[in-house]
Amino acid sequence: MISVRGAGKIYRTRSDETVHALKDVDLEIAQGEFVSVVGPSGCGKTTLLRILAGLEGATSGEIVVGGHKVRGPNDDVSVVFQQATLLPWYTVLQNVLLPAHLKGDRSPASEQRARGLLDLVGLKDFERKYPFELSGGMQQRVAICRALVRNPKILLMDEPFGALDAMTRETMNVELMRWCSQEGKTVMFITHSIPEAVLLGDRVVVMSPRPGRISEILDVEIPRPRDLRTLGTPAFAELSDRVRQHFGAVAAPGQDM
Ligand SMILES: Nc1ncnc2c1ncn2[C@@H]1O[C@H](COP(=O)(O)OP(=O)(O)OP(=O)(O)O)[C@@H](O)[C@H]1O
Ligand SMILES: [Mg+2]
Repeated sequence: MISVRGAGKIYRTRSDETVHALKDVDLEIAQGEFVSVVGPSGCGKTTLLRILAGLEGATSGEIVVGGHKVRGPNDDVSVVFQQATLLPWYTVLQNVLLPAHLKGDRSPASEQRARGLLDLVGLKDFERKYPFELSGGMQQRVAICRALVRNPKILLMDEPFGALDAMTRETMNVELMRWCSQEGKTVMFITHSIPEAVLLGDRVVVMSPRPGRISEILDVEIPRPRDLRTLGTPAFAELSDRVRQHFGAVAAPGQDM
């Protein structure tokens, strides 16, 4: 579903310096796969996501998403960012429907799908509320529904739960696994949390500091369905430690990096 071969990205800053953000990145993501990406700040995770989403061009390499070379934003791909960025003057339902409305789609089928998604994330009774009436976790759930409303095949998530408190984040992790298994999406999920990466991922991509390269890809051979009890298993601790070793800091299992 996603194929990245030899991708590189060099930014030219306003002061005419060059920043080598990505170098020789190779990554294949299969349909229905959930791939977590971890790496130190500034290693090029968001750059990679923006390239896959068609929001940024790669300087080198070949990027194929959904069977097509990426040339710009693609209807098969949706992005969820760290902040929910909902429109404050729109209701929850209107916010979810925004991508459909922007495409001129005001069909009852889309509205039905939006309602079904809100139901899936436990916000059925909130469709007429406004963003300020929701908690941070609820707002992020609305943003996820908005990303799914046009039924993209691929979901790219950039630290989607970074702004949430630890308990809400754990709940959202478990819920996301449930939604993804129901919706069968191909997902690339960027996070700073090693436990989150291991809990959610079929594989964990570990990136190295600038210029960002992939230093290891680990298979997470922990059976699904997984839940918060998974965090306490020896297999989970062992995998988390293997990821953590890349960052030179071996902490107690279950801790963030
Ligand atoms: N538009 C831009 N112009 C110039 N340099 C940029 C631009 N966007 C990103 N960079 C640089 O590219 C590198 C990678 O940035 P990127 O945002 O991809 O990192 P990241 O891994 O997502 O970091 P974080 O974990 O902090 O979000 C950084 O050094 C950053 O300064
Ligand atoms: Mg980033």
